[in-house]
Amino acid sequence: MEVVIAADADTVAEIAARIMIRAVTERPSAVLGLATGTTPLATYAHVVAAHRAGDLTLSAARAVLLDEYIGLPPDHPQTYRSTIRRVFTEQTDLPPDHVHGPNVWSTDLVAACASYESLLTELGGVDLQLLGIGTDGHIGFNEPGSSLMSRTRVKTLTATTRTDNARFFSNQDDVPHHVVTQGLGTILEARQILLLATGSRKSDAVARAIEGPLAARCPASVLQLHPHVTVLVDDHAADRLELADYYREIQATKEL
Ligand code: GLP
Repeated sequence: MEVVIAADADTVAEIAARIMIRAVTERPSAVLGLATGTTPLATYAHVVAAHRAGDLTLSAARAVLLDEYIGLPPDHPQTYRSTIRRVFTEQTDLPPDHVHGPNVWSTDLVAACASYESLLTELGGVDLQLLGIGTDGHIGFNEPGSSLMSRTRVKTLTATTRTDNARFFSNQDDVPHHVVTQGLGTILEARQILLLATGSRKSDAVARAIEGPLAARCPASVLQLHPHVTVLVDDHAADRLELADYYREIQATKEL
């Protein structure tokens, strides 16, 4: 795994945006796997700025979501589909019909999960998957205990995740209990993965993901199996990494 420790969250966002912009520049029809949450917002803002400056077109790119809440009306502002459109794609020239997510409004969720997997295959797979990390080590909404080979399916959120995500709702009871998420096996099929984490709240999950054992207890640890993953963290999120000095030494020899 490539571990990059940046001085602060702004630098994390700048580097992440550079990696996203490079992916689309090299392959204009790139399939971008997008994450929600607060962490990637600054990255999206940099990519939007590059588009506004005329340096980037996303007109042929596709955006695929990692996950979606079950139970919110389709026009609810906190659905992940509305969120990603609002915070990112609508501010670029990525066509609205190029944003894809699992159909959680289907009456047959098992079929909807299978058809999302088929769609990812039809699109040729994900070129660059952006990930955040939950304080309990989840990626997407693969909570602790998730099978490391799992595919897109329905999951139940932990109390920790519902509390963490309550800030997006008027009260905690409004946070859905269930979601559809790409599985860990699905995420691992992306050609390149970029995991972002900032702030000391994430330091424990980051250390367990990168330096802990490969274990369903920390779903993000499955990334240790991926051949092309970059973990991009700020100083605070790197706080508990035992090999931080070593990662910094390697990083000093590379151009990002
Ligand atoms: C949610 C999303 C994850 C995201 C996580 C962390 O649970 N499903 O994809 O990584 O939140 O979010 P934040 O970046 O706000 O800490």
